[in-house]
Amino acid sequence: MNHAFKNITLAVPEILFGLGVIEELGNRAKALGAANAMIITDEGVAAAGILSRVVGILEKSGVGYRVFDKVEKEPSVENVELAFKEASGASCRAIIGLGGGSSIDVSKMVAVLLKHGGNLRDYLGIEKVPGRGVPTILVPTTAGTGSEVSKYAIFDNRQAKTKLGAASGHLIADLAVVDPELTISMPPAVTAATGADAFIHAVEGYISTKATPLSDLLALEAVRIIYENLPAAFADGQNIPARYQMAYGSMLGGIVLNLASASASHALAYPIGSEYHVPHGVGCMLTFLEVMEYFAMADVPKFARMAQAMGVKTDGMSPRQAAQQAVEEMRKLVDYIEIPHKLSAINMDRNLIEPFAKSVVANQQRLLVNGPRKLNEKDIRTIYERSY
Ligand SMILES: [Fe+2]
Repeated sequence: MNHAFKNITLAVPEILFGLGVIEELGNRAKALGAANAMIITDEGVAAAGILSRVVGILEKSGVGYRVFDKVEKEPSVENVELAFKEASGASCRAIIGLGGGSSIDVSKMVAVLLKHGGNLRDYLGIEKVPGRGVPTILVPTTAGTGSEVSKYAIFDNRQAKTKLGAASGHLIADLAVVDPELTISMPPAVTAATGADAFIHAVEGYISTKATPLSDLLALEAVRIIYENLPAAFADGQNIPARYQMAYGSMLGGIVLNLASASASHALAYPIGSEYHVPHGVGCMLTFLEVMEYFAMADVPKFARMAQAMGVKTDGMSPRQAAQQAVEEMRKLVDYIEIPHKLSAINMDRNLIEPFAKSVVANQQRLLVNGPRKLNEKDIRTIYERSY
């Protein structure tokens, strides 16, 4: 991809990254004027003891708070509305999002609704959010979505039978507190699913037609870091250096999304996620390898560089061989982390391939346009079929 004279817009929250930075949450919340904050989280985060740690930190700083812990896995529009109702009923004027991408995405939208009211459905789409929300701090407990730094929030729309997202600079939080310590309690399957999502952000962002020199710098580094560290974090959740690198790589992936966006694996995942409620990272992985097979020859130089970033010695290989080798390395990674990566693994009904392909064409052009190869409905059906 030729970058000549591309414009670059970089928007990210202020970021606090590192082991133990969560201890600064109370003072930072105070500085943002978060007098009565709503902590938006889920029951898993509470059960892991992370919520009580965060609550203790806020209490030490005298920050008042309420807790909403009913965020769904792969949250629906209705789930956001419920969180908003509780937050507005309690007169909350700040949001602390604590959890995986689900809690964080709900948090972003509730912050906007608290400030501007209106109907969430009107805000789905590109730049439809009316303005910034109330002060928002996002604290990830997984290393995957990168949502803590991104401008996206994605929800299941059960009427449309797909996931629909809001993309807006107004959704960028005031502060992201990324503490790798909070990711240690993730079980291996969650480490795999969320880590796969981060890896796909890095890869899809790197080969995106929206890529810029800045996004390339971050994306290729994220590919390298996640490829090197995801197996170790999967194999031993207590491996602090691997957890640290995964939190860092995932955050880079989130910045890459803002700069260059994801593409086809995400687009094809959304109808699957809406129908089968698989974790987002699994949904993306179900077609990822076939998407890569489809894309590799469309951008040989970038795939060859990804192969190098994943440790392949490409000397003596033709550019095409090197590009193909990138896909093989991705396959090895996916196999190692034991994540479902075939539609048969979730027993997907083959009769849904056709409506899903139609749904992707109708609803996910925002993502499809970024791939290095343009996919029509027939291509998408082929990818689903090869992924079975
Ligand atoms: Fe994702």
